[in-house]
Amino acid sequence: MNMKIRLSALLVAALVMFSCQPKSKFSISKQAWGKADGKNVSLYTLTNPNGMEVKISNFGGTITSIMVPDKNGKFDNVILGMDSLSGYQKGVPYFGALIGRYGNRIAKGKFTLNGQEYTLRTNDGPNHLHGGPKGFDKVVWDATEISGPDSVGLVLTYLSQDMEEGYPGNLTSKVTYVLTKDNSIKIYYQAATDKPTVINLTNHAYFNLTGAKENVLGHELTLFADSITPVDSTLIPTGLIAPVAGTAFDFTKPHTIGERIASVKGGYDHNFKLNRTGEGLMLAVELLEPTSGRLLQAYTTEPGIQFYSGNFLDGKITGKGNVKYEKYFGLCLEAQHFPDSPNKANFPSVVLNPGQKYTQLTVYKFSVKK
Ligand code: BGC
Repeated sequence: MNMKIRLSALLVAALVMFSCQPKSKFSISKQAWGKADGKNVSLYTLTNPNGMEVKISNFGGTITSIMVPDKNGKFDNVILGMDSLSGYQKGVPYFGALIGRYGNRIAKGKFTLNGQEYTLRTNDGPNHLHGGPKGFDKVVWDATEISGPDSVGLVLTYLSQDMEEGYPGNLTSKVTYVLTKDNSIKIYYQAATDKPTVINLTNHAYFNLTGAKENVLGHELTLFADSITPVDSTLIPTGLIAPVAGTAFDFTKPHTIGERIASVKGGYDHNFKLNRTGEGLMLAVELLEPTSGRLLQAYTTEPGIQFYSGNFLDGKITGKGNVKYEKYFGLCLEAQHFPDSPNKANFPSVVLNPGQKYTQLTVYKFSVKK
């Protein structure tokens, strides 16, 4: 064989070897992350073939980071979070956590079901917020890793005992986080009870698509919702369904968060009633960060989205990368039933009876717009 032929044979062999290299795959790994309630806490790292990486702890079912690319392929973490378990245990406002048994507020922590009044533990002035002082965000869930050819995930289960935080019924909850190849995180919630109860599960991730470089006022939001449920001074819905047309709450066309926020007392912290035409998964939200080009689309089976613009962040918490989380540094898009539904007959029901199965599916899909 002459030199030329040998060289080209080598080149062909190298090309064949390169193209046969297995593409990077889905993976999940687990690391010890400390203890809570005497139980072991772990941190799981899920990756997909595009290099997207999601970290989830079984403490509170908390998503601690989501690494996604910008329009130039540069990866950054796009949610607020802490580096250690102790950071979460010191107290954070529900960063990335699962919320239960009831997302958002129940007025004065009271509701009546089948003629019986229940009193929940209060933790937000006179009201009950996000499941009470020890909600699902502060308990240790049992975790099982799952993986298939097109996804990887984590199944979390938790048994909330009868009367835990004041809620009736032994409630078994199962939340499945799945990372897919189209850069989506699917969150599938299931629950069952042995006594009539109320339920409203969600996730409380604070998104910042700049990669925590600046606040979220420059993010462009589209919310497919023609109305909101206005609130009183303690953030309890009045019961009205108010149209957003002509107000600072009209995000049916994209607007930056900062554009009209000064006219919204306290900032955005409202439940938006989605424009549903039936049941099933619908596109509820689009959030674009123009500088990075990152786009987040949220799909849900729920009737509402709580859009919270991080109004109570005040720089007192230093999170990942030593960044101080100032006001408006992250925003939440919590897919949910409406706040205080147990006390509002005109809102979609949140009652779960024995024999029924509670389900909710929400998908957060990341991509870029160039
Ligand atoms: C609520 C806010 C609350 C925040 C806690 C949001 O879901 O709507 O009022 O302060 O959670 O971080």
